[in-house]
Order: sequence, then C-alpha cells, then structure tokens
Amino acid sequence: MEIVIVVSCAFLVIALMKFLYDYLWIPLRIQQVLNSQGINGPPYRFIHGNNKEVSKMRMETMSKAMGLSHDIFPKVQPHLYSWINKYGKNFLYWNGVRPQLVITEAELVKEVMKNNENSFPKRKPTIYGKKLLGNGLVLIQGEKWVKRRKLANHAFHGESLKNMTPAIISSVETMLEKWEGGEGREIEVFREFRLLTSEVISRTAFGSTSEGIRDCVMEIVKSRENRVVNGEVEGFGNDFFGLLLNAYHGLDDRNRLSLEDLVDECKTFYFAGQETVNSLLGWTVFLLAIYGDWQEKARREVIDIFGDQNPRSEGIVKLKTIVSITSHHDPQLWGDDVHLFKPERFAEGIAEATKYNATAFFPFGLGPRSCVGMAFAMTETKIAISMILQRYTITLSPAYVHSPVASLTLQPQHGIQVILHSLHNDGLKYANPKNPSDIHQIK
Ligand code: HEM
Repeated sequence: MEIVIVVSCAFLVIALMKFLYDYLWIPLRIQQVLNSQGINGPPYRFIHGNNKEVSKMRMETMSKAMGLSHDIFPKVQPHLYSWINKYGKNFLYWNGVRPQLVITEAELVKEVMKNNENSFPKRKPTIYGKKLLGNGLVLIQGEKWVKRRKLANHAFHGESLKNMTPAIISSVETMLEKWEGGEGREIEVFREFRLLTSEVISRTAFGSTSEGIRDCVMEIVKSRENRVVNGEVEGFGNDFFGLLLNAYHGLDDRNRLSLEDLVDECKTFYFAGQETVNSLLGWTVFLLAIYGDWQEKARREVIDIFGDQNPRSEGIVKLKTIVSITSHHDPQLWGDDVHLFKPERFAEGIAEATKYNATAFFPFGLGPRSCVGMAFAMTETKIAISMILQRYTITLSPAYVHSPVASLTLQPQHGIQVILHSLHNDGLKYANPKNPSDIHQIK
C-alpha cells in the first residue's frame, strides 16, 4: 500500500515538475535570452502568456467605431500597435506558452520571407487552421509542396487564367442582374462579394456552381469520373480540379495524390481564393465610394479600354488605376502623409513607390511561398470593378459605420453599405469629393 502511495506521489511530483518546466522555466528562459539580445516585450504571464491582454485590447477597440480614417492599425491590431510603440520594431510576446517574435524591420522581414537557407519552416497549423484551410498548399512543405505548387502555378496563370475570364464575367453578370432595379437603394456589397467570390472560385477552379465546396468534392470526383468512363470526355479537365484529379489517378505511386490530399487542396483553394478577394473587392468599392475623383478616374480608364463591352484579357493588364487603390501604415517607409489616400504614389509603379524596397509593400507575400493566386485575384478584381464602374456610380450610404476588424482577412464589422446610381438612368450623380457633407470626415 505504502509503495503504491510513494509511486503515485513520485509520479505527481514528476508531472508537476514537467508542467512547471514547460509553462514557466522554458518561457522565462527564452524571454531572458532574447532580452539579453535587446529584444524586449510584454512580460510572460503563467499559462496565458499575453492572451488576456490581447483579448482585452481587441474587445475594447472592436466595441468602438472610428471616423472615416485610414489610420486603422491601432484599431485592428491594437496589441501590435501598442507594443511596437513601447518595445520597438522587433519584439517578443506570448500566445499562451508559444513565443511570438514580431519583426517589422525591413531587412529582417526580407531575410525571413526569402528564406534562402530554409531556416524558417512554416509553423505547425492549429487544429482550427487545418480544419478551415485543409492541409493543402498553404501549409505543406518539402517535396510535396514543390510538386503541388507547380500544379497550382499551371492552373492559375497564363492560358489557364485567360480561359477563366468568361466564367468570371458570367458570375459578375449574374450579380449585376440581381442589382438591377435597385438603383438609389442601399446595398451591402461585402455580402454580395462573398457570394460572387465563392461562385467564381467554384466555377473556375472546380468547374462547379455548387455552394459549400467542401461537402461536394466527392460529388464532383464521381461526376467527372463517370463522364470519362462513359466516354463523354477524354480527360478529367484542364481546370485546377482536373489537374488534381489527374494526380489522384496518377500511375506513379510516389506522386499520386490521396483522396484526403484532394479534399484538403480543394478546401485550401476555396478558402484562400474566396475570403481574400472578398475583402479586396469590398474595401476597393469602399474607397471608390468615398473618393469620387478616383472613382471617376478609374471609370474613365475602364471606358477608354473597354467602352461598354465586357472586359477582355488584353485590356485587363492595362488597367492601372484600380491597382493603385490601397493603403499603408508605416510613416518611416511612406512619409508623414502615410494615412492620406494618395494612389498617385503608385503612378510610376510599385517598385518606384516603395523605392525598390520589396518589404515596404507585399500584400501577396514575398519569396517562394508568395501567393500563387495573385494574378487570378487581380484579374477577378479588375473584371468585377470594371463591370460595376461601367454601370454605376457608387456613394457611401449614411448607414455605413467604419469598423474594420482583423479576422484572418480585414473585415468590415458592420458590412459595407453603398448606394448605387445607374449611369444610364440617373446620369452622373455621385458624391463630390470636394463637398465634405458628401464624404463625411476623411483624414
Ligand atoms: C486579394 C487576394 C489575395 C491576397 C491578398 C493573398 C495573399 C496571400 C499571401 C500574403 C500569401 C503568403 C502567405 C504566407 O507567406 O504564408 C498567400 C499564399 C497563398 N495564396 Fe493567396 N492571396 C489572395 C488571393 C488568393 C487566391 C485567389 C488564391 C487561389 C486561387 C490564393 C491561394 C494562395 C495559396 C495556395 C497560397 C500558398 C502558396 C504557397 O505556400 O506556396 N490566394 N496569399
């Protein structure tokens, strides 16, 4: 009996020591080592790290709307904003017991993103991340990544991308048909673009118009296999899904995709291709709505290039104004007028605007793991915005409340409500940017 108690006690003591080692000794040791190298940050707190502070700061900023300013960093990432100010450009904070080294210094960012020595592996995905994204291209590494990246490159560039244009146009047309008759009424574009972007990625990547791609991967597999077996078509198709299906049926054992790989890759592309473009389209329309002069400039370019015809691939690359509609936040890189909306910064191209500093502006990432869908995302955005500008002028609805929040992508907490005025029925009746009552308060 006594032996049992002694063994249990010893076991408990070892477990407690291991717990204290992992949750106290290791974090404090890492903190001490980094502090000694000049990297400081908010102190580690037992078990929670800095999570409570982060939640508190985020709750506080989320509960308040802001004026129509571009200075959104303190609102969307209040913890990073306050710690950069307090501890400098590079600092350490704690996500529970996981140390997070934040670096914003351009040279260091470049080194990490280029990852020449392969010293910075992707971090292990969380269960939530895996569920949402699937264990696809964004998360995989090594040989597996090289092969799948090649496949995706092929599916989302060059001729393949050109062949997607009709499907994108037709999805935008469906959305615009729904908008017809709603002129002068308020419309929540973020929700509209959510439907549009999921339709576009489903049709272009998977050749299917069904919603909820995760649930119907098997259905698409079966339907394509049946068509091949019945002799209706020769192969599985040239879209992304067709390429995946070829790899799934591949003869080479080493390179063959499992069904699980296939489903994961579909999840990845559905999520990566939808949420991101949804956000880009929503905020672009928002900016065009408050800056009527830039809206007019962008429309003039669209009309010059396409007239009232649907966008064509050769013209899409010539659209420059839409690409320059963006915002940035570091005064050391962009100057004291960083928060002013000045797309003219990009008049001579991105390289010139950033003084050839690639880390000053990299919305699509940098280096080998940069976005494989960039050309696709820009094509979809240019087509959708062009087709809207050909038909409507856009003003911001008085109901709009400015409250951007970071939730993987930048989301408008209360949607983006705009008012559409048909160019063909109402004439040019959009906000005059010089009239402050039209555009509320813009810093
Ligand atoms: C405005 C739209 C988009 C933005 C801002 C964006 C941004 C990014 C960024 C920053 C990365 C790098 C992530 C990292 O370094 O870990 C990335 C990777 C990726 N993106 Fe996008 N993306 C967009 C649209 C798309 C679209 C439309 C697709 C699919 C068609 C896509 C698929 C991917 C994939 C698969 C990766 C991982 C690439 C790899 O690790 O090899 N993205 N994206």
